[in-house]
Amino acid sequence: MSRDILIAPSILSSDFARFGEEVRALDEGGADHIHVDVMDGHFVPNITFGSRVVEALRPITKKTLDIHLMIAPVDPYLEAFAKAGGDILTVHAEAGPHLDRSLQMVRNLGKKAGVAINPATPLSAIEHVLDRLDLLLVMTVNPGFGGQAFIRAMLAKIAAARALIGGRPILLEVDGGIGHETAPLVVAAGAEVLVAGSALFTGEPYAGAIANLRRAAQAGSS
Ligand code: DX5
Ligand code: ZN
Repeated sequence: MSRDILIAPSILSSDFARFGEEVRALDEGGADHIHVDVMDGHFVPNITFGSRVVEALRPITKKTLDIHLMIAPVDPYLEAFAKAGGDILTVHAEAGPHLDRSLQMVRNLGKKAGVAINPATPLSAIEHVLDRLDLLLVMTVNPGFGGQAFIRAMLAKIAAARALIGGRPILLEVDGGIGHETAPLVVAAGAEVLVAGSALFTGEPYAGAIANLRRAAQAGSS
């Protein structure tokens, strides 16, 4: 089945000293979502930035700010990311004992609710919260860093996730190691939102890089 492909550049690979200009350029270059990787040095072995950065970026773009929260605990920070202007708040299924409550909190804050699952986490972890979801993120690397190799065993998980979603209005996103070679594979398996960091930040202008990745991805959708 052919579905629209959304490209979500990850600002983890952008120039941290020029966040504002980078986000403006990604917006003008045709990004569908701006993917914002929040890391705490605890849930994942790396630290990035907090809600103040999201707040600073919000006036720069009207595109969907897709906030990937790799933090534990996550519940105490949801309100701050919501107020900062995130559109989709994605929490990790592994980040706390009460995923259902976290997802309810996100929706009660008026935001779209996403859940991410690490490569070793089975899909069954989210099976009973599907009706609380607007987005399911299947991690295709272990979170923490850009530039890692795509884990091919995730293709079967993406296909199973697509089947599990069925007719529900839940976006299926993939994140990690997505480039020209892997984009058609994940799209053929059923993914529709493609996060890409290192593949888009090569020095090539973003418009061309995003268009090329979209074209490669669409080859998997027929
Ligand atoms: C990894 C992050 C990703 C990362 C992807 O923990 O969640 O969003 O930026 O980077 P690439 O596309 O380089 O694998
Ligand atoms: Zn991410």
